[in-house]
Amino acid sequence: MGYAGGVDVGSTQTKAVLIDEQGNLVGHAIVDTGAAVVQAAEKVFQAVLQSTGLSEQDVSYVVGTGYGRYKVTFGDSQVTEISCHARGAVHMFPGTRTVVDMGGQDTKAIRVLPSGEVLDFCMNDKCAAGTGRFLQAASYALEIPLSELGSVALAGQKPVKISTTCTVFAESEVLSWLEKGKKVEDILMGVHLSIGTRSVGLARRVGVEQEVTFTGGVTRNQAMVEVLNKMLGLKVNVSPESHYMGALGAALYARDRILGAQGVTV
Ligand SMILES: Nc1ncnc2c1ncn2[C@@H]1O[C@H](COP(=O)(O)OP(=O)(O)OP(=O)(O)O)[C@@H](O)[C@H]1O
Ligand SMILES: [Mg+2]
Repeated sequence: MGYAGGVDVGSTQTKAVLIDEQGNLVGHAIVDTGAAVVQAAEKVFQAVLQSTGLSEQDVSYVVGTGYGRYKVTFGDSQVTEISCHARGAVHMFPGTRTVVDMGGQDTKAIRVLPSGEVLDFCMNDKCAAGTGRFLQAASYALEIPLSELGSVALAGQKPVKISTTCTVFAESEVLSWLEKGKKVEDILMGVHLSIGTRSVGLARRVGVEQEVTFTGGVTRNQAMVEVLNKMLGLKVNVSPESHYMGALGAALYARDRILGAQGVTV
């Protein structure tokens, strides 16, 4: 059989994953989504092919997911990102019962069955204050790269209390704390705590049951991992591939279709 592909077109970043017939991850790639969404999907797929040395013909089925899943013009079908994050999380961490996905625009909490099926979910509505967007605003205001925000925040001893509930005002609040003489690390830890509080609130709405698996781009931020661990009173599952969880889930759905077409029960 051929390889299975998953392409997760998120609001901020577009991720692609290829898996083999056993479900092993053989390659992944990421690009910024930007305004040209169709092209982002094409670009990330070419990138993952290149990184694995495979050709389009080697990939038998592709599932698109994420908010831009219908922009994966070469995709064979689409599955919602809630289902894909759940499926990917249970595959990577079989004990998963609760998933917290923190992406660029949305944070979602999902309760899953051992099979990877979705039992319940909820997401932040209208407002991006509990998401990666908030971190991006802080990164811009403080002129610290996104990839360094977490390590700077971890040095914060006296976190400030961030009061804004809106990303639009996040930048000005961060700057006003700076003007008041607060340390950058204390402001940043305050930003992480504010996002953490909102995300944990969402998780409690669906019910926090061990194990909790953290997915999405914000998993790359070590301070957020530690804040979630502390607030939830447990250790969330996270791996260097957690940013690709939605794409992995999509690839697993693609693999089902390939095996199904071969008459293999999945
Ligand atoms: N190297 C990094 N270090 C820290 N944070 C990062 C890094 N790369 C990405 N992020 C965070 O991840 C976010 C993007 O995550 P992700 O790719 O899961 O979002 P998305 O799927 O595009 O969005 P959504 O699911 O909301 O539509 C960014 O906004 C940023 O906060
Ligand atoms: Mg996403």
